[in-house]
Amino acid sequence: MTAPVIEFRQVALTYPGPPPVAALRPCDLVIRRGEFVTVVGPSGSGKSTFLNIAGLLDAPTSGTYLLDGLDTGALKDGDRTALRGRRIGFVFQSFHLLPHRSALENVTLAMVYSGVARKERRQRAREALVRVGLGHRVGSLPTRLSGGERQRVAIARALVARPSLLLCDEPTGNLDTANAQAVLALLAELHADGMTVLVITHDPEVAGRGARTVTIRDGVLREMAGTPR
Ligand SMILES: Nc1ncnc2c1ncn2[C@@H]1O[C@H](COP(=O)(O)OP(=O)(O)OP(=O)(O)O)[C@@H](O)[C@H]1O
Ligand SMILES: [Mg+2]
Repeated sequence: MTAPVIEFRQVALTYPGPPPVAALRPCDLVIRRGEFVTVVGPSGSGKSTFLNIAGLLDAPTSGTYLLDGLDTGALKDGDRTALRGRRIGFVFQSFHLLPHRSALENVTLAMVYSGVARKERRQRAREALVRVGLGHRVGSLPTRLSGGERQRVAIARALVARPSLLLCDEPTGNLDTANAQAVLALLAELHADGMTVLVITHDPEVAGRGARTVTIRDGVLREMAGTPR
């Protein structure tokens, strides 16, 4: 068995309100290096709450969250931000690319604070774009790319800092069927290469792509029957 990337021990989050909302009920969850896990649930079930905790954007109100074995509860804000930048690649539904920068610049800019030398940054960005099948479009502006290509640029940007975890929030939510299939196929390839991938979705079909699926309903996380562990 590989080492845990995410380990939740009785992690819960209640928004203070009033009235208080128990958005995530105490849950235990282990996601190991190289797993491809999908988290599926309806609107308001707690998916974003879960993602914000896993992505170190929000701290749980109780319980312990270990990322790569490190207790994140003990971190100061700056350390938490640095850890997020190093360990987690984010992919969102709406791409979040800079419209007036080329694909290559969008990916290169993700490494500005990484300490990687400038020349090396461009090299790595180019490699990441080749990896997602966009080696021929590195100079293109996002507005000249299809939705699926834009999402692949966003995935290259998420990967370029070599994170331990790729955290995707409805990565196909803005894509037509063909582009959605291409992005899901890319995520499956990255998983086959050893990347740890976590996809959050309300779409059961997307959820079915995970090697393992966790459901969330009314803030309660449950392992889906039939998937390992
Ligand atoms: N900042 C907040 N303050 C109070 N309650 C909140 C806050 N953010 C979310 N909630 C509540 O917490 C619950 C879970 O919300 P969450 O955003 O995690 O759901 P979701 O599964 O991501 O939904 P969607 O699919 O619509 O994005 C909901 O009842 C929501 O109203
Ligand atoms: Mg949400």
